[in-house]
Amino acid sequence: MRVLLTAGPTYEPLDPVRFIGNHSTGKMGYALAETFAAEGAEVVLISGPTSLPDPAHPRIRTQRVQTADEMYAAAAAVAPTAAIWVFAAAVADYKPAHIAENKIKKAGATLTLELVKNVDIAATLGQTKRPGQFSVGFALETENEQAHALDKLRRKHFDLVVLNSLRDAGAGFRHDTNKVTLLAADGQVTTFPVKPKSEVARDIVHTVLARLPHHA
Ligand code: CTP
Repeated sequence: MRVLLTAGPTYEPLDPVRFIGNHSTGKMGYALAETFAAEGAEVVLISGPTSLPDPAHPRIRTQRVQTADEMYAAAAAVAPTAAIWVFAAAVADYKPAHIAENKIKKAGATLTLELVKNVDIAATLGQTKRPGQFSVGFALETENEQAHALDKLRRKHFDLVVLNSLRDAGAGFRHDTNKVTLLAADGQVTTFPVKPKSEVARDIVHTVLARLPHHA
């Protein structure tokens, strides 16, 4: 069984020395890769820039990318042959409209950047999902959490969405712990307590495996 996993942030270059990025560490995605591999799956981990070493597990192949466009190209190449897709990456929603060839020099008191929308990797691949393929997405919400997460599930053709609420202490970015609620396409909702990310990964992987058609 093959698993496609995106993880970490993307870096969108502005010029040869600068980029737009975010604080995602990749820890949740890497923990999921380890857990799927431990369960016997072949994992293709498509990772944005992180300070984590490539997982050592022989069933995990790590492919490093920088930008959302690179992450999309790598994921699209793997998606058709993967039974499970997990979109754990914190993809930059926008990228600079132009990449300066040379370092941008400081000039005026203000600088305006033009940004354009990045490809939505999960939503675009979601349109190609075949029966039997299972797609998992993440949602980080601050209000009306479950409604927003379910809306994301439908828009991106997820079978399961992992909701992190920013209201919960110990959840999300820059923490070694996470508190998640899993929402399934059939309406089932499961809330877990705050746990280390490795244990959260186990909860997610076991939920996914239990929901695969041939697993029942
Ligand atoms: N995602 C993706 N490609 C993008 C943006 C998001 O694959 N360009 C995936 C993420 O990996 C995550 C899910 O989509 O699994 C949710 O991302 P999020 O950015 O919260 O979704 P948006 O619809 O952009 O949310 P919002 O409308 O709140 O900005």
